[in-house]
Amino acid sequence: MAEYVGAIDQGTSSSRFIIFDTDGNIVGVGQREHRQIHPRAGWVEHDPDEIRQRIREVIAEALGRSDVRPREIKAIGITNQRETTVLWDKNTGKPVYNAIVWQDTRTSGIVAELARDGGPDRLREICGLPLSTYFSGPKAKWILDNVEGVREKAEAGDVLFGTMDTYVIWNLTGGTEGGVHVTDVTNASRTMLMDLRTLDWSDEALSVMGLPRAMLPEIRSSSEVYGETKRSVLDDVPISGVLGDQQAALFGQACFEPGTAKNTYGTGSFLLVNTGNEPVPSEKLLTTVGYKIGDQDAVYALEGSIAVTGAGVQWLRDQLGIIRTAPESEGLAAQVEDTGDVYFVPAFSGLFAPYWRDDARGVLVGLTAYTNKAHITRAVLESTAWQSREVVDAANEASEAPFKELKVDGGMVANELLMQFQADVLGVPTIRPTVSETTALGAAYAAGIAVGVWRGTDDVTRNWGEDKRWEPNMDSGEVEQRYARWREAVQRTLGWARD
Ligand code: G3P
Repeated sequence: MAEYVGAIDQGTSSSRFIIFDTDGNIVGVGQREHRQIHPRAGWVEHDPDEIRQRIREVIAEALGRSDVRPREIKAIGITNQRETTVLWDKNTGKPVYNAIVWQDTRTSGIVAELARDGGPDRLREICGLPLSTYFSGPKAKWILDNVEGVREKAEAGDVLFGTMDTYVIWNLTGGTEGGVHVTDVTNASRTMLMDLRTLDWSDEALSVMGLPRAMLPEIRSSSEVYGETKRSVLDDVPISGVLGDQQAALFGQACFEPGTAKNTYGTGSFLLVNTGNEPVPSEKLLTTVGYKIGDQDAVYALEGSIAVTGAGVQWLRDQLGIIRTAPESEGLAAQVEDTGDVYFVPAFSGLFAPYWRDDARGVLVGLTAYTNKAHITRAVLESTAWQSREVVDAANEASEAPFKELKVDGGMVANELLMQFQADVLGVPTIRPTVSETTALGAAYAAGIAVGVWRGTDDVTRNWGEDKRWEPNMDSGEVEQRYARWREAVQRTLGWARD
C-alpha cells in the first residue's frame, strides 16, 4: 500500500492541507482563506471556530483532489502562524475571545508597562526575545485583563491557552472529549513564556506576565506522536509533527548544520540561521528553537523577523496603483539600472529585526524630478534585500557558524531580479529548491520521521533538490556604498511616530 503524509498549514491568511508522497512530492492540496477581523486600527483577529471549520474543509478538499485513500495517510504534521494566541473554554470548546494575531499591536501599553521595570530585554536571557507586542504572552495577558471572568476560569484550569498548533491539535484529537493539550518547543519559544534552556515554562516569565500555569499546554518535541485524529474527516491518524511555520521551512529546506540558513519571503520575511545545540544570544535577533526531534537535543536558531517585504509590493499595487499585479514589479524595476539613489524603508508599523522600534514609520528618500515609477518599484524590491542583509550581519555578529549560502522560499522567490540582488548584497549565493512548499513539507517530514515513514533528517537532505542558484555578481565596494546609504535611510524612520 502506498504511504503518504499530510500537513496542515494554518497560516495568517489561509489554512491548507497538503499531501506528500515519500519522495516529498505534492500529490494533493486544499486551501481556504479565513476572515481578517480589524475591530480597530492596529488590531487583527481571527475567528478560531472559522479556522477549525476551514481545516475540516481543506482536508476533505485535498483528499478529493488526489487519488490518495484516507487510510494511506500515515501521519499528519501541523505547522502554523506563530504567536497568534487563542484562549478557549475546556468544557465547551468555545473560544473566550477571538484569536489575537501576531501582527496585532493592542498590547503596546502592556509591553511599555512591563518594560518600565527592567527594560525591554528583562526576559531576553530566559526567553531569547525582547518585550514586544509580537509575542503571545502579552496577548494572553490582554485577554485575561479585558475579558470578564476569564482570569478566574483560567486559574481554575477551565480556560486553556494555545498558539494555533495547540488549538488545532486539541480539536482534532477529540476537543471536549479528551482533546490533547500540547504544543511543541518551537511554538512555545515564541510565547515569551518558555525557558530556552529547560524547554519548560518559566516561572519568572509567568509571574511577570501574571499568567496562571494551569492554562498552559504541555511542551513536547517537534516530532513525536501527540495523539490521533478523532471525530474528523480523517480518523485515527497519528498527529506526529509540529513546527511553527518558519521553523518548519528551516526543516523542509534541510538546514540541519550550524550556519545553514533560509529566508521565507512572504508579506514579511523570516530569516533563520541554524546555530546548533546551544541558544546563541543576540541583542538584535531573536533566539529561538529551530526544532527538536523526539528525545534528541534541541537545535536552536537565530531569527530575523522582518515585518514588511512582499507587503511593500502589495502597497505599490493597492495603495499607489503603480502596478496591477505583484509579478509586474519585476519587469518595471528592470527598466532602470538602479534606483537613482532612492531608498524606500517600509517601516509601516515600526521595524522588527534588527531595530525593534515601534516608533519607526516608512520613508521614501532621495526623490528628484528625474525619479519615476520604475525607480520607486526597484527601491521597494531592494528594500527586501537590504533588510535581509541587516539580519545576516546581525547573525554573523552573534554566531561563529559560517554563513555560506541562503536557501530561499515563499512567493517573492519567483522574482529573479530580487533573488539576484539578494545574492549581490549578501555576497553569498541564493538558492531556490525544487519543492517550493517548504513549510508544509517540513511539518510533513517531522510527522513522518516520528512514525518511521522517513528514517531521519538524512532522508530530508536526500529529497531536497536545487531548482536555481544566483551567484553574487556586484562589486563589493559598490554594495557597501549602497548599503551605507540604506542604513542612513533607516535612521530617518526612527522616532517618526508620536503618541
Ligand atoms: O511569526 C509570524 C509568522 O509565523 C507568520 O507566518 O506565513 O502565516 O504569515 P505567515
